[in-house]
Amino acid sequence: MSTINYSEKIPNNVNLGEDRTLQRALEGWQPNFVNWWDDVGPDGSTNYDVYLRTAVSVDPQGWAQFGHVKMREYRWGIFLNPGDQNREIHFGDHKGEKAWQDVPGEHRANLRRIIVTQGDTEPASVEQQRHLGLTAPSMYDMRNLYQINVEEGRHLWAMVYLLHKHFGRDGREEAEALLQRQSGDVDNPRILGAFNEKTPDWLAFFMFTYFTDRDGKFQLSALAESAFDPLARTTKFMLTEEAHHMFVGESGVSRVLSRTAAVMNELKTDDPQKVRAAGAIDLGTIQRYLNFHYSVTIDLFGADQSSNAATFYSSGLKGRYEEGKRTDDHILKGQTYKVLEVKDGQLLEKEVPMLNALNEVLRDDFIKDSVAGVGRWNKVLEKAGIPTRLTVPHKAFNRQIGALAGIKMSPDGRVVNEQEWAAKKSEWLPTSDDFAFVASLMGRVIEPGKFAGWIAPPVMGINRQPVDFEYIRFG
Ligand SMILES: [Fe+2]
Ligand SMILES: [Fe+2]
Repeated sequence: MSTINYSEKIPNNVNLGEDRTLQRALEGWQPNFVNWWDDVGPDGSTNYDVYLRTAVSVDPQGWAQFGHVKMREYRWGIFLNPGDQNREIHFGDHKGEKAWQDVPGEHRANLRRIIVTQGDTEPASVEQQRHLGLTAPSMYDMRNLYQINVEEGRHLWAMVYLLHKHFGRDGREEAEALLQRQSGDVDNPRILGAFNEKTPDWLAFFMFTYFTDRDGKFQLSALAESAFDPLARTTKFMLTEEAHHMFVGESGVSRVLSRTAAVMNELKTDDPQKVRAAGAIDLGTIQRYLNFHYSVTIDLFGADQSSNAATFYSSGLKGRYEEGKRTDDHILKGQTYKVLEVKDGQLLEKEVPMLNALNEVLRDDFIKDSVAGVGRWNKVLEKAGIPTRLTVPHKAFNRQIGALAGIKMSPDGRVVNEQEWAAKKSEWLPTSDDFAFVASLMGRVIEPGKFAGWIAPPVMGINRQPVDFEYIRFG
């Protein structure tokens, strides 16, 4: 059951062949997906043979098989973690009841919305990243970008399968619409803000995969608790793929820092202009990129107080991060949680019903997790003897969604007025000058084992291959 059937047009471990109608519907969607990939997927990559991992089983050991493949021939497919016929709902009002194998009528609209919103982020990030291959700092990095791109494509498949199988005609229409919306499109944008932002360069890409793919981790973890069992099983498998995306971001930024620190030490300077002149990215620019990606990403968790969040939890659609490891009653009625609110231009803590604050609970879990990695980045600076440290900005910094959108805050957590914001914004968020400088470093380095001057090589290659392995054959 967990072994994936590759003899079919659509690789799967869900016995797709037994449901001819569904199989035909998905086979009808498949060419539209490939057209989408050709139109807005990785630019200029059609003839490349890329050293990619492909899922061959959902077993924790050995699910991946590595080999050179053309991306448009990647075996995108439908892989669910093994099911447990006796699985029980473990939170919300239906706690203790049997998990659902089908969508209950009363939760249909909400579940569809959750699946569509998750599904929409997957192709969006491929669109955001489509030009990056043209400026890859190495063949190794280019390969990692493409691995992420094909897996985001597969995540789209995961959601489209659920839509086709469980939501009838509406589901099929939503699946089409997922290929029609486009990141940054004025008339038909992607659903969530961060997925309409540009990913203009590789520093932005590493920040995106560190922060925004981590949002993916937390959303998928919450959905992996769902009472709707097919959603829980498919998101569990997606999480194993997501881990690599965050690794690319974390190690990418580490390598940038390592190179910057080396240049600072060589020149014995912390002058950003001198660092730039030597072809490395100054720490101020890295901090501003971090501020931007962090603040845009924490907006993805939604409003701090939300009756939808309460409904999604109580009806069992979406749990908390690591719901199963928590020791409370998993119903949360009568419990409270502290959120921030803006009153008379100041931030105040306020206790609200926890059920309504579950977006904030998930955001706070995300914050803890992302701060930990920033600490690991700082270790790179510490080791190199550089006294500067990166920090994550205050939760209320640069927010566009929820109560905190109503206040201007400095990264270190001071309420500031409009004038100060306007005056300091260029110290806090990337400027057009920063973008232009980073863009000026983006050349294309594609000889095996060679790296652009602004980034250090990785410690290890992929799948125990050497760093100078031929990860891409350009054909
Ligand atoms: Fe994804
Ligand atoms: Fe991802």
